[in-house]
Amino acid sequence: MLRRVVFTSRSIGAAGLSTVSLAHILGAGERNNRRDQVGSGMVIHGDRILQALEGPAHEVGRTLERIKADPRHTDVEIIVDAVVTSRTLTEPMVLCDDPEAFLRAVKLPCLSLVTPEMAEAVLERRLAA
Ligand SMILES: Cc1cc2nc3c(=O)[nH]c(=O)nc-3n(C[C@H](O)[C@H](O)[C@H](O)COP(=O)(O)O)c2cc1C
Repeated sequence: MLRRVVFTSRSIGAAGLSTVSLAHILGAGERNNRRDQVGSGMVIHGDRILQALEGPAHEVGRTLERIKADPRHTDVEIIVDAVVTSRTLTEPMVLCDDPEAFLRAVKLPCLSLVTPEMAEAVLERRLAA
């Protein structure tokens, strides 16, 4: 069974995620998600984070538990949690390289305003604006 989860959260610290933390998160995510057959895409804008995860239900669950327990962010809010029949995210870890363009494309000022419908649009765009 394939599960899709999209969540938003807020990074800890005034300046948002530091380059070093982000590099660690992307490195661990790439390695673990590849191993666990989890696809993922992330958008970071200021201190707001949006991430989508897709993969075998139990692996997505385990990944999400690790992510929720991570002290580098807080206020994890699940906006989509669904069983899906096909994958949209085929890479283990993709970071959107132009979050401003992404927000313009989905017509939102801030990632914290993303709705479940918006999250589906996010996935359709594969987080690549
Ligand atoms: C916003 C955010 C997103 C993350 N995404 C992932 C992810 O997709 N996959 C993953 O394995 N770890 C992710 N992490 C890191 C985990 O919280 C945790 O540090 C990591 O899985 C530990 O991996 P390790 O046991 O291999 O060191 C994320 C952390 C944060 C703060």
